[in-house]
This record gives sequence, C-alpha cells and structure tokens, in this order.
Amino acid sequence: MSAKKSSTKPMKAAKATKPEAKKAATKTAVKKKSAPEKERVLITGAAGFLGSHLCDRFLKEGYHVIGMDNLITGRLKNIEHLFKRSDFEFYHHDVSKYVHVPGKLKYILHFASPASPIDYLKIPIQTLKVSSLGTHNLLGLALAKKSAHPGCQHQRGVRRPAGTSADWKRTGAT
Ligand SMILES: NC(=O)c1ccc[n+]([C@@H]2O[C@H](COP(=O)([O-])OP(=O)(O)OC[C@H]3O[C@@H](n4cnc5c(N)ncnc54)[C@H](O)[C@@H]3O)[C@@H](O)[C@H]2O)c1
Repeated sequence: MSAKKSSTKPMKAAKATKPEAKKAATKTAVKKKSAPEKERVLITGAAGFLGSHLCDRFLKEGYHVIGMDNLITGRLKNIEHLFKRSDFEFYHHDVSKYVHVPGKLKYILHFASPASPIDYLKIPIQTLKVSSLGTHNLLGLALAKKSAHPGCQHQRGVRRPAGTSADWKRTGAT
C-alpha cells in the first residue's frame, strides 16, 4: 500500500503540461528578482592589515562590503583581489573629513588608523586626526544610518553610539 502511495507524486509531476511548466519557470524567475538585498557593511582602513581581512570575512559571510581608505599606510595590493566582485566597493577617502555613504549600513567597522609606532611617529597629526575626527565622523554616520556596532573584544552585541554603556545589548558573551 505504502509503495503505491509514494509512486503517485512523480507521476503527477510527469503529467505537467507545457504552460504549467512555463508558469513555474516564471515564478522561479520572479523569486530570484525579489531575493532580499545583501546587508551592507562599511569597513574603514580596508587596505590595512586588519581591515583587509575583515573585508574578506564579511564578504564570506554574505555581506555587501564598502571598503574605505586613504592609503596613507595601507596598500591596495591587500584588497585588489576584491575589485572584480560586484558585492565590494572601494572609496578612496580620508575619514578625518566628512564621510558620506549612500544607502543603508548595517555595520560600521572603524579600523582606519596607522597602527605601527614607526608610522604614527612619522605622521602624528594624521594619527590624531583619524582617531578623533575620524571616529567622530563615523559615529555621526552610524547615528544617521542607525548602524550597529558588532562589538569589541570583550562583548559581542550591538551598541547605540549615542547611548550610555547601559545600551549594550548582548547577543552572547565571549
Ligand atoms: N595590527 C594589530 O595587531 C592591532 C591590534 C590591536 C589594535 N589594532 C588597531 O587596529 C587599527 C588598524 O590596525 P592595522 O594593523 O590594520 O593598521 P594598518 O596600518 O595596517 O591599517 C590602517 C589602515 O587605515 C588607513 N588609514 C589611516 N588613516 C586613514 C584615514 N584618515 N582615512 C582613511 N583611511 C586611513 C591606512 O591607509 C591603512 O590602510 C589601528 O587602530 C590599530 O591600532 C591593531
């Protein structure tokens, strides 16, 4: 009995007429078109050591990545393998100046800053500016876009940049 029951399904599929098949194909095409857009993440210092690895990681996680860097210490070589991708954009921009990115941003990761003591002793003013004005500009952008902070080394979660430390919403402690 059970063998007879299971054999009915493939038979029904085989009986499908041509217009039905066409209808199904159209449905699939419509489904593909209305697939949800990828969430977008802005990574500053994208051409640097940490930023470039974060670009790779977030692309792997399925995000649309916008990398931003003024190339003061970073190298385009670190991210040139991403330029052929449609889910990666690069803005050559100094984040100490006003930062504008059109569209939604789920996360902003601010990694733009010379990290090596050799670099920041050579360019102390730029280092101070990116840490203060750059951070200020990106917090402003995060506020405007209602972007989340993916967390720091001790806490995972989201943080409203304009809130108090009580605004931490943990999604899992490390
Ligand atoms: N590398 C580490 O092990 C480590 C550890 C802890 C914290 N950090 C911090 O993480 C940050 C990034 O470190 P890194 O090792 O990737 O440094 P890095 O020098 O390799 O990268 C920094 C990137 O920021 C870019 N940049 C600098 N000023 C900019 C500006 N005004 N506008 C746009 N882009 C700018 C540089 O061109 C470079 O590509 C630094 O703040 C560093 O102190 C690094």
